[in-house]
Amino acid sequence: MVEPDYEIITKYTVNEHFSEAKIIRYHDQSERLYYISSEVGLNHKEKVALDKLKKIISKELKPPENKEVKPDKYLVEQTDFFVKKYFKSLGKLSEESIEKVKYHLVADLIGYGPLNVIMDDPQIEDISCNGVNMPIYVWHKEFESIPTNIRFTSKIELNNFIVKLAHKAGKHISSAHPVLDGMLPENHRLAATFMEEVSPKGSTFCIRKFRKDPISIIDMINYGTLNERIASYFWLLLESKMNLMIIGGTGAGKTSLLNAIISLMSLNTKIVTIEEVPELNPSLTNWTQLTSRQSFKFGSRDQNQNITLFDLVKISLRYRPDYIIVGEVRGEEAYVLFQAIATGHGGLCTLHADGVDHVVKRLTSHPMNVSPIYIPLMNVVLHVERVKIPGEGSVRYARRIRNIWEIREFENYNPVATWNPRNDEYETFFDSSFLIRNMAEKLGKDADELLDEIDRRARFLRSLREDSIEDQSDVAEKILDYTMMTRNEHELDEPLMMAQSKDELKEEVL
Ligand SMILES: Nc1ncnc2c1ncn2[C@@H]1O[C@H](COP(=O)(O)OP(=O)(O)O)[C@@H](O)[C@H]1O
Ligand SMILES: [Mg+2]
Repeated sequence: MVEPDYEIITKYTVNEHFSEAKIIRYHDQSERLYYISSEVGLNHKEKVALDKLKKIISKELKPPENKEVKPDKYLVEQTDFFVKKYFKSLGKLSEESIEKVKYHLVADLIGYGPLNVIMDDPQIEDISCNGVNMPIYVWHKEFESIPTNIRFTSKIELNNFIVKLAHKAGKHISSAHPVLDGMLPENHRLAATFMEEVSPKGSTFCIRKFRKDPISIIDMINYGTLNERIASYFWLLLESKMNLMIIGGTGAGKTSLLNAIISLMSLNTKIVTIEEVPELNPSLTNWTQLTSRQSFKFGSRDQNQNITLFDLVKISLRYRPDYIIVGEVRGEEAYVLFQAIATGHGGLCTLHADGVDHVVKRLTSHPMNVSPIYIPLMNVVLHVERVKIPGEGSVRYARRIRNIWEIREFENYNPVATWNPRNDEYETFFDSSFLIRNMAEKLGKDADELLDEIDRRARFLRSLREDSIEDQSDVAEKILDYTMMTRNEHELDEPLMMAQSKDELKEEVL
């Protein structure tokens, strides 16, 4: 037997009996590689059977009579039928072998083909292809960005694959429309470019995988993205319908953090979410989910058919939500969102920016055009970032809330928490929080009482961690229990208006 010329750093099963992923390193290279063997799981007999079965299906499969039936379900049913019908000529496979063959058949015909194992591997967060004859890269939870042993070796093969992805996302991609942003059936986010139109190295794509189990606020605390006291502070703010904005760079964890924070709201809070691609997945039930639409017609792009974030924020006001949540603010929808907040709706959003000055600058200039007197309506801005964690040994990255500011007025920001990169700890200055003082005043309490409440809730969140209650819906249930116990003590009927009197602002809006 020939000694392999690589060392296996780790290996694990992705689909029991079906596939295995390895992280390896070739002896003459320092780089690690995500390695899947194309033969995984199939012996010679099974491979022959798979090829035969594919031929049978391409010849004999009829379109379903019932048009409503899902294609994957139909294919599985039909495969069962053909396996029985051709049991002998397929080589009288054992039950286990049949299962394997079926898995590979479905993967090849309607799954993600060469990417199937990667798509199934929960350790993988995203997948990118930079062109023909280049390794597919993945973002692995433990090993971060690493190349794989998979590559598309011909332009045609890659283009066909991208067209298939586009179909799966219900979209169209071609030389005439070479850019695509969409969502795959499992809610994975797909971006792609076609041929050399806009990408000189040929077609490209990136799939950002959707997590079935969203990162809960307890997970976030466990990862160190925030601590219990900061979470409790947000929790209190949301009960008073305060407005929050999460800022940071791409992939910093803004949307995930927003989702975790929304789940601190009392379960019956009425929310409307507005996104280009639906990513938010909170545990609230009184939730209207809106997504924008880009219309597409062959030969022309009829702008009138587009439904933009701007349109959706406007229509969301008619739903009378407690909170309007815009997944990612990029343009003029910011202006309407601030108007909505000014008229007493709660507002949450994320925005691509790397500091409070930067965000205010973006908000107050074209195309957002938010008036400076509206800026303090966004009560709190928090900055999340992917940072290098101090420590010995290999470099480790993680997401941290770097800073939290309360917005007193335009160009007057009050820091209430900051992350210390030297010891990976948070420092909070809630004593100096004017929002807490204002909330206390409205509630007829002392600020100290609210500070005590923050500590109480922090202890409560810690107890959830100690009991390993991490699943988003379990956490939400516990939070509901807690709020039921302390009902009406901290909830305000009306949102707090900070900078100006409400009437003054309304005039401005109307
Ligand atoms: N606090 C976190 N800790 C670990 N991983 C995270 C965290 N927040 C997000 N992620 C992961 O990082 C990726 C990007 O997160 P996302 O929230 O979409 O970022 P953004 O909205 O800033 O672009 C996702 O795959 C997500 O699962
Ligand atoms: Mg995002």
